[in-house]
Amino acid sequence: MHDNAAGNGKRIEQLRDLIRHHEYRYYVLDNPAVADVEYDALLKELQSLEQQFPEHITPDSPTQRVGGGLSSAFMPVRHSVPMLSLDNTYNEQDIRDWVGRIVKVTGDNTLAFVVEPKIDGVSVNLKYENGVLVVAATRGDGETGEDVTANIRTIRSIPLRLRGESVPAFFEVRGEIYIDKDDFLNLNHLLLDQNEIPFANPRNAAAGSLRQKNPRITAKRPLKFFVHSYGKIDGKSFTTHREFLDYCSSAGLRQAELIKVCHTIDDIIDFQRACEQKRDTIAYELDGIVVKLNALEQQRIMGFTAKSPRWAVAYKFVARQATTTVNAIRVQVGRTGVITPVADLAPVVLSGVTISRATLHNFDEIARLDVRVNDTVLIERAGDVIPKVIKVIDRERTGRDNPFTAPLNCPACGAPAIKENDEEVAIRCVNPSCPAQLEQKLIHFACREAMDIEGLGDAAVEQLIGGKLITAISDLYALTKEDFMALELFREKKAQNMRNAIEKSKSQPLSRMLFGLGIRHVGEKVALVLADRYRSMDALMQASVEELQMINEIGPVIAAEIHDYFDQNAVIELVKAFKLHGIAMREPERPAGLTPLAGKTFVLTGELTAMSRSDAEAKIRTLGGNPTTSVSKKTDYVVAGTHPGSKLTKAEKLGITILDEHKFMELLHTLSPD
Ligand code: IVH
Repeated sequence: MHDNAAGNGKRIEQLRDLIRHHEYRYYVLDNPAVADVEYDALLKELQSLEQQFPEHITPDSPTQRVGGGLSSAFMPVRHSVPMLSLDNTYNEQDIRDWVGRIVKVTGDNTLAFVVEPKIDGVSVNLKYENGVLVVAATRGDGETGEDVTANIRTIRSIPLRLRGESVPAFFEVRGEIYIDKDDFLNLNHLLLDQNEIPFANPRNAAAGSLRQKNPRITAKRPLKFFVHSYGKIDGKSFTTHREFLDYCSSAGLRQAELIKVCHTIDDIIDFQRACEQKRDTIAYELDGIVVKLNALEQQRIMGFTAKSPRWAVAYKFVARQATTTVNAIRVQVGRTGVITPVADLAPVVLSGVTISRATLHNFDEIARLDVRVNDTVLIERAGDVIPKVIKVIDRERTGRDNPFTAPLNCPACGAPAIKENDEEVAIRCVNPSCPAQLEQKLIHFACREAMDIEGLGDAAVEQLIGGKLITAISDLYALTKEDFMALELFREKKAQNMRNAIEKSKSQPLSRMLFGLGIRHVGEKVALVLADRYRSMDALMQASVEELQMINEIGPVIAAEIHDYFDQNAVIELVKAFKLHGIAMREPERPAGLTPLAGKTFVLTGELTAMSRSDAEAKIRTLGGNPTTSVSKKTDYVVAGTHPGSKLTKAEKLGITILDEHKFMELLHTLSPD
């Protein structure tokens, strides 16, 4: 420990420089120089020094990414130079014409162009004064945006302070905030797990995360940034766009991969095609390329129209869109009571897949789009995402169709359907014993990852509940073979198999039961953590909030949720009934020798032929390993089946051990020969 103020100040500065360096290596260069523990130790030391000597805290300290600052949130910010948009082109001829016009105006036919991927994100303006990030704003209407500084500060790939010795006095950069496709899917899983509404696509996820009122939430979202242009700059000049990008890199601002300089139209066209081909293996969503005249003097000569520069143009990919008609709009009740609208569509083929349904997300979205039955709509598929209705393109309305409005009552049980609070867009059925909720709860309870009751799928559950054979999940265990045989779906053999599967599920480990109950915030992982810690349902039910909070992976929100869940009379009764039926609800001890994969993280990508993905994940877990969904440098193995996605590319880039299915099966076999 340093014993004087100057010494502390010096150590603090030293730590900040080191941490900034490591953040730059990790978040900007994607090439970390130290292990996470070392980085964490530096950050902890800095935090503790700053706590002891708060007079040394500066806003650009790496500890100050999440501040208290809500005050300026979303206030209007007038851009010093308007944020324009780009003209779109869609084919080779458009690009040839565009280049032709530039050659004509500049009188130069040896032009250079910078070509860049067009990232489908949210554009922002970052203002740096003397190298320090002071204001960040969204594009808004191009003239005035919204202040999102507090949220932007939480994004690690955005430097709070520019790197380098001589920074411009005023430097305004523009770029795209986005979310990687994998991160987007994980985020949606998490939101669903927490009973929240998932985002429609990565762009909405980025926009929604950026517009959170609480920067602490934004901080948890995997937002990233690429720089692509600038506003006002004082104290530095460039002669080409490429030079500007190079300076940005040296200042610690990320730029997209693949960017290059082209000298001919053919090169530009080849680049666009190459990007389109690579589209699925690139971690983030692209919707085309952007072509920019490289020489800034030539850019000046070309100038602007009211909406866009004449020196840059977007050259878009063929959209994964199609038109079709809406046959019906249905509402579904989920297992937590959330009521969501879905459009049934006339089947249409979209990039090789037949689509007959699209999500409408929520009732605000329906109102915004004003979708009605019989409308012709434009639908879009992005990556693995569920198809989505983009807009209505033809309203074949007879005048009799009314706008589709949110139901006031649950379509299944008639109980009131309400929004829990103003912030929420979802409406929920308030009846905890709603049969539609019970149906979904039971399907979840029986699913492969939970109690794994084979044969108890959607159709069987529907009949059981429709026939009033089940009014609580525990009733399942009282059903006899004859009860099943009375249903349309079951003959003797099938009914017996069903009984056997239900009986077998009684000895499932506690973790599966906890996941199967569908407790808010309790996904497979949290369920495992709880089961590992408490071993039996009784012990878990007696845990206090404080005790739950002490568990590493469990924060105050989840702890409170779990505690409240087990405090409900209906749940206490449910557990009692489970006990009466002889259900174990215990987590078996895992003998140490049987966890050879302890601490190893796996990511599965593509399809496996020998077993389903969830069986493979279960197997990894049984051996002590940890299956996860996104590849990072912490991943130990990536298992690549057929048609692997961008996860494989990322794994190769990070030098992670890749196992094909054959090698993976061999590994499992060696570790557990049964
Ligand atoms: S340059 C004067 N470069 O596309 C406009 N924009 O449709 C300067 N975008 O609002 C923008 N990737 O948010 C530029 N490599 C890229 C881009 C890009 C995505 C967005 C940007 C802009 C929108 C225009």
